[in-house]
Amino acid sequence: MAYQKPYGMHDILPEEQPYWEHLRRTFRDVCERYGFGRLDTPVLEQTVVFLKGVGEGTDIVDKEMYCFTDKGGDNLTLRPEFTAGVMRSYLEEGMRSRPQPVKLASIGPMFRRDRPGAGRYRQFHQVNAEIIGTDDAAADAELLAMAASFGAALGLGALRVLVNSTGCPACKPPYLAKLAAFLRERRDRLSALDRERVDRNPLRVLDSKEPETRAAIAGVPLLGDDLCAGCRGHFAEVRALLARAGIEVEESPLLVRGLDYYTRTVFEIVSAAAPDAGTLLGGGRYDGLAEMLDGPQTPGVGFAGGIERMILALKAAERSPRAARAPDVFIAYIGAKAKEAAFTLAEALRRAGVAAVFGLGNKGLKAQMKLADRTGAGLAVIIGEAELAEGKVQLRAMGESRQELVPLEGLVASLASRVARGAP
Ligand code: HAM
Repeated sequence: MAYQKPYGMHDILPEEQPYWEHLRRTFRDVCERYGFGRLDTPVLEQTVVFLKGVGEGTDIVDKEMYCFTDKGGDNLTLRPEFTAGVMRSYLEEGMRSRPQPVKLASIGPMFRRDRPGAGRYRQFHQVNAEIIGTDDAAADAELLAMAASFGAALGLGALRVLVNSTGCPACKPPYLAKLAAFLRERRDRLSALDRERVDRNPLRVLDSKEPETRAAIAGVPLLGDDLCAGCRGHFAEVRALLARAGIEVEESPLLVRGLDYYTRTVFEIVSAAAPDAGTLLGGGRYDGLAEMLDGPQTPGVGFAGGIERMILALKAAERSPRAARAPDVFIAYIGAKAKEAAFTLAEALRRAGVAAVFGLGNKGLKAQMKLADRTGAGLAVIIGEAELAEGKVQLRAMGESRQELVPLEGLVASLASRVARGAP
């Protein structure tokens, strides 16, 4: 093979597309029900947006971004996540002057030079939803409810919704100092990776998957015990609203997230049947992000779901989405004269709204009919020269190998009305 796709990236073949369509359609429906408008931002942002937004010291910024200098000398980065770019757009496009909050939904490709594995790619796709311009706990609860409802509408099966609060600039720094001191005392017992994190990003040690770290941090002080009154009340309201609405969540005191902008509520959704499949959706509140991007203080909360991971979970739950529309008609022909008539007929059918596939490739009838089978078309029109001279063609019901001679005139209208009625 001459060329291969970049390591950790993947092609999405036609047979996979029904899953993607199902996901996009379901996300669109859920966004409409929750009152979100769609926002598309560029795939590239100035690198500084992520340096300041996602934060130096995070895995994403330190190890995983695809950054380059373009021919004009601009430093650009392929977006590793939506939120920093969405906030950049909110600030730059003057969305602050609209009635607040603004609810923005996005969908598209992300790039992280991660270690590829099951459900982990270097180009992957996210659905993303943000509520910007309010610190109301109801916004956190609404997004959690929306994420859970999206998972249910997709057919992901039983989900676990894990929530925690990571505090604010008043209560988090004193806690971090306490945590770092606790970890430093046990540094020798931590894994090599976590030893490095103690000074750089001690919170990340809390959700380490390394067995020696997990054993070493038993009894670690929890931020939940040190939250200030404001954060405590906010988190209590989030949980009370969800409980009232019958949405089950689990408190997860060690849950922290890999991006720097989080304050207060954080959450993750995993499959109950396959928790090892990784986090399907994750998000939280980021009341300091606008200021990190040199904007005015603007609270916000949001989540993103990994489309590839959700599709893996759908497959694990043996959910098959509705298949893509098969062609209505395959047009086959025998001979050069018939080819022109077949091509003209295919175009006329498409104009009339019929999905028609033409037998491309100057193949014999047998090979064309093999292709017709493969496309899944319900009907085939077969044009032969002798019959064509009499203004007739063969109409075959595929799968029944039954065929009849019909006049070419009026065929477009009759096939179009047949398709409109939903008849095969
Ligand atoms: P995140 O946790 O970094 O959050 O990513 C969200 C989801 O994207 C993950 O739960 C996972 O499903 C998927 N994902 C992440 N990395 C990969 C990968 N390498 N391959 C496949 N899927 C992956 C964020 O990105 C935040 N911006 C979420 C957010 C929005 N917070 C507030 N608003």
